[in-house]
Amino acid sequence: MGGGMLGHATATAFAAGTVARVAGLFVTFEGIDRSGKTTQARMLCEALGNQALAVREPGGTAVGERVRDLLKEPHVEIAPHAEALLFAAARSELCRQVIRPALEQGRVVISDRFLDSSLAYQGEARGLGVEEVFEMNRWATDGLLPDLTIYLAIDPHAAAARAGGGDRIEGEGLALQERVAQAYERLAAADAGRWRRIDADRPAEEIHAEVLAAVDAARAGAPAA
Ligand SMILES: Nc1ncnc2c1ncn2[C@@H]1O[C@H](COP(=O)(O)OP(=O)(O)O)[C@@H](O)[C@H]1O
Ligand SMILES: [Mg+2]
Repeated sequence: MGGGMLGHATATAFAAGTVARVAGLFVTFEGIDRSGKTTQARMLCEALGNQALAVREPGGTAVGERVRDLLKEPHVEIAPHAEALLFAAARSELCRQVIRPALEQGRVVISDRFLDSSLAYQGEARGLGVEEVFEMNRWATDGLLPDLTIYLAIDPHAAAARAGGGDRIEGEGLALQERVAQAYERLAAADAGRWRRIDADRPAEEIHAEVLAAVDAARAGAPAA
């Protein structure tokens, strides 16, 4: 299958509201800061071994890593529109250069954040509009959607009490995290077929076991929920 055909097929699937499936499995982790995304992505990657490919957002390409540095620079002020476009630019490169090729090889691609982070942070919490940010990202990614999105649900106070550093986005405090958490809840509820909501205020091994079960179900073609 050529890249053009794939793009058309996934765009069509997207328009029809179905999961864009190519050969592999595309799993994303979402949740507020310190919900455990990086921890769980790493555990899943280790459990799956060679068949897995881990990526992080923004990043994973030459452009993406520089966008990452720019967005995390505390003294660079970026307006919400430009911030959303930068995330999408990094995502576009990651999709074309890394994610799609790996899926075509039949691998399980595990991404620490993806599209839904933009919907929750820029679309909802920063007020750009979920639909607008969604459309812009659809264009940027040729309509690629995850097969399975794990939402690590945790109270912002509990997450804040966990150890961890503080870049600019994390430094904005609990109010933003509350808005983002509410946005994730709405997104997950609106598409239960793709999302799997997991209570993340538990030992990491317990969460990991549920993540593995959800991945197995998704690979078997069963609904994620
Ligand atoms: N289930 C868990 N229970 C308690 N602490 C956790 C759990 N998962 C991760 N942590 C710790 O919480 C902090 C944030 O986890 P991390 O995986 O980096 O979250 P995120 O990537 O979502 O910001 C880290 O110090 C990590 O070791
Ligand atoms: Mg992380």
